[in-house]
Amino acid sequence: MDVPADILELARGARRVTVLTGAGASAESGIPTFRDAQTGLWTNLRPEDLATPEAWYRDPPRVWAWYAWRTRIAATCVPHAGHRAIAEWGRRDGVTMKVVTQNVDDLHERGGSEDVAHVHGSLFRHKCDVCNAQYRGVLDLPVEQVERLEPPDCEQCGMGRIRPDIVWFGEALDERVFGAAIEAVEGADLLVVVGTSGIVYPAAGLPGVARAQGIPVIEINPHGSDLFDQLDHAWEVAAGKGLPAIVAALDD
Ligand code: APR
Repeated sequence: MDVPADILELARGARRVTVLTGAGASAESGIPTFRDAQTGLWTNLRPEDLATPEAWYRDPPRVWAWYAWRTRIAATCVPHAGHRAIAEWGRRDGVTMKVVTQNVDDLHERGGSEDVAHVHGSLFRHKCDVCNAQYRGVLDLPVEQVERLEPPDCEQCGMGRIRPDIVWFGEALDERVFGAAIEAVEGADLLVVVGTSGIVYPAAGLPGVARAQGIPVIEINPHGSDLFDQLDHAWEVAAGKGLPAIVAALDD
């Protein structure tokens, strides 16, 4: 696959690469994006209806069941060639690679990336909804989708219930994590935006941080995004095709 010349030139010259990913970067591994229709028991629901504190406090077992299903999906999916290409790019001599992801799966890590900031949290971390203590227990994930599932009680405070350590709509991001994300963007000499609609802030504001500093911004997204006016170059290609093509052409 031919890489557009202007994108390849920027990639070859970059030494401090930051990749910002969204759900589209996981799509080819089989994890549905947010703007795809929800499937199964949640077909008629939008993530915005479930990924909120209100939904949690209204009916914890229902929200816990949705996350248990999503965790099982994520755990059974495997990283694709795009995840592996990002990690390979970061192993090249003289190149540092930082990943800032809105995704809550662990496909970047399983694809070999080591420096990954999860600005929206992780399906594989859990905490108490009262005392915030991290939950260290083992979760039993149902094999089939279930409508409701009782979350564990917090053994630290004895009052709360264990919830996903994920940033829900209306919740603030972890300042430390988002601060690291901003540093990763500001310290880059190339920002590659992969598979995000660019709708949800503050993550969607990160390409603007790069632009404000004169850092070139490339997008890899087969359908384009709301970030169109913040890009130097947009390549309408899937992550699993475009990223490996770039890395393969770095030495040509
Ligand atoms: N390769 C690259 N991009 C893709 C691919 C692919 N194979 N398939 C789809 N896309 C693009 C779509 O064109 C879309 O622009 O991925 C993007 C996915 O957009 P969303 O579903 O909105 O996901 P995302 O941008 O990550 O959502 C941001 O919204 O729901 C909240 O917190 C949630 O982190 C999420 C945030």
